[in-house]
Amino acid sequence: MKLLAFSVSLRKGSFNRKLIKLAVNAAQKKGVEIELLDLLDYEMPAYNGDIETNVGLPEAAARLKQKLESAQGLIISTPEYNFSYPGHFKNTFDWVTRFQPMPWTNKAVLLLSASMSLVGGNRGLWHLRVPFEYAGGFVFPLMFSLASAHQAFNEKDELSNPDLAQRLEEMVGSFIRFAEHLKY
Ligand SMILES: Cc1cc2nc3c(=O)[nH]c(=O)nc-3n(C[C@H](O)[C@H](O)[C@H](O)COP(=O)(O)O)c2cc1C
Repeated sequence: MKLLAFSVSLRKGSFNRKLIKLAVNAAQKKGVEIELLDLLDYEMPAYNGDIETNVGLPEAAARLKQKLESAQGLIISTPEYNFSYPGHFKNTFDWVTRFQPMPWTNKAVLLLSASMSLVGGNRGLWHLRVPFEYAGGFVFPLMFSLASAHQAFNEKDELSNPDLAQRLEEMVGSFIRFAEHLKY
């Protein structure tokens, strides 16, 4: 089984980039092939039906579609922006849905978030579930939200709290079993 992973945050020092790397390490420990993508490599213009009609779908959307077709599932870590998830990812999601069949369909999806707040960006994850559910993804019921993210990592970019580190590893393990049972 192959998985993809990415941080929705584009900034280099992102807490979500740190968190997704830990999830990738946890998946690799379970022997799963997982590819970490950088959404900076998949930048797209704002969706505009005239671009689609006159120019076609962005080549970045086509490359992301190919990546999605190569994988059975996704692990995503996102910041919360204004109680939701960042708009640039909705734009990416929308462009990719213009391919038929929609490349998000039948993918197992694990959602993570990190934020400096005490709720760890969890509200954004409830919004992010919706387009994946619509597009026929299988969103794992459990989600992981890292609160006080600015204080949560040690100098090796590991989670300082061993209970949280264990919870993340266990959740990634449960998600892998979930994804392996989906026969698509
Ligand atoms: C436009 C904007 C809106 C934000 N809204 C929220 C919010 O609703 N809840 C929250 O916890 N943090 C919010 N933040 C703070 C981000 O969670 C914080 O910048 C976080 O570090 C971003 O994730 P990153 O470190 O992965 O880039 C917002 C930041 C920006 C730029």
